[in-house]
Amino acid sequence: MRILITGGAGQVGWELRRTLAIFGEVVAPSRDILDLASADSIVAAVRGVRPGLIVNAAAYTAVDKAESESELAMKINGDAPRILAEEAALRNAALIHYSTDYVFDGSKAEPYREDAAAAPINVYGHTKLTGERGVIAAKAAHFIFRTSWVYGSRGRNFLLTMLRLGRQRRELKVVDDQFGAPTSARLIAEATAGTIAKNYSGGRLDIDGFREIGGLYHLTAAGRTTWFGFAQAILTGREGVATVLPIPTSAYPTPARRPQNSVLDNGKLEKQFGFSLPDWKVGLQLCLEELGDWVIG
Ligand SMILES: NC(=O)c1ccc[n+]([C@@H]2O[C@H](COP(=O)([O-])OP(=O)(O)OC[C@H]3O[C@@H](n4cnc5c(N)ncnc54)[C@H](OP(=O)(O)O)[C@@H]3O)[C@@H](O)[C@H]2O)c1
Repeated sequence: MRILITGGAGQVGWELRRTLAIFGEVVAPSRDILDLASADSIVAAVRGVRPGLIVNAAAYTAVDKAESESELAMKINGDAPRILAEEAALRNAALIHYSTDYVFDGSKAEPYREDAAAAPINVYGHTKLTGERGVIAAKAAHFIFRTSWVYGSRGRNFLLTMLRLGRQRRELKVVDDQFGAPTSARLIAEATAGTIAKNYSGGRLDIDGFREIGGLYHLTAAGRTTWFGFAQAILTGREGVATVLPIPTSAYPTPARRPQNSVLDNGKLEKQFGFSLPDWKVGLQLCLEELGDWVIG
């Protein structure tokens, strides 16, 4: 089976490239070959690669910048997933797509289930919700995994920013009234592999099986924290690093509004696949160990 991964240089895409290699030949074209902002480029790339499975890990992920680049963000997050799904449907291939906790407005006190009403409060969330709807409408066999607060040992993310700033500054003020679940790119890739394995044998995907259990799932680490709690967990216990101080969202204005609570309920995924998603601190510890000594130095 050939697996086409978009966004292969991103956090999740990179982990997928190594995790999904057990299922077949992974092809991960760079943006100059597969540009999600161009419908022609998407169609040409999919038809050229002829994949049995497309995994769309690319996205316009700059949440604040999206407020002023909404057209581009919509092309990449809103239109491209639908085009990928249409191409998958045409060739009886499957599609795995990722979405976000930011499809919710954050007003609910409890974790969000898949059937909770989506009501994005920023451009990024709005474009990602459009992408989800496009994938569903195209009727290809698909999974959509909504995840949250993604970090990893590479790329641009909160963990690496805190490690860098923690060494440069004496004090770091971090928002303490937005709740979510920091989720490692590694965990997302591993859970994705688990869902594929359930519908895979003899070097092929069982498309009907995929279609039967596919759909929209929440996929995050367990537990919850705030950005302040996440920063504390990253920096506590290290010598000579900044002191982390809690602040309210109102003291850190950003172009994009963020939901106050975007904790997702993973029950559907755990029940369907028998998974037990570990607490966010487990993934963080493993990632810090992977980063190794340079974190401390
Ligand atoms: N990051 C988070 O906190 C977060 C939270 C919730 C959900 N998610 C979702 O999780 C998925 C993976 O996110 P991530 O954090 O791994 O993203 P990421 O690290 O920001 O990587 C995004 C990837 O998308 C590629 N890309 C952007 N525009 C493109 C275009 N026009 N054509 C082709 N490729 C393009 C980038 O390519 P270049 O390398 O060329 O820039 C990069 O490889 C996304 O669907 C995202 O919406 C992320």
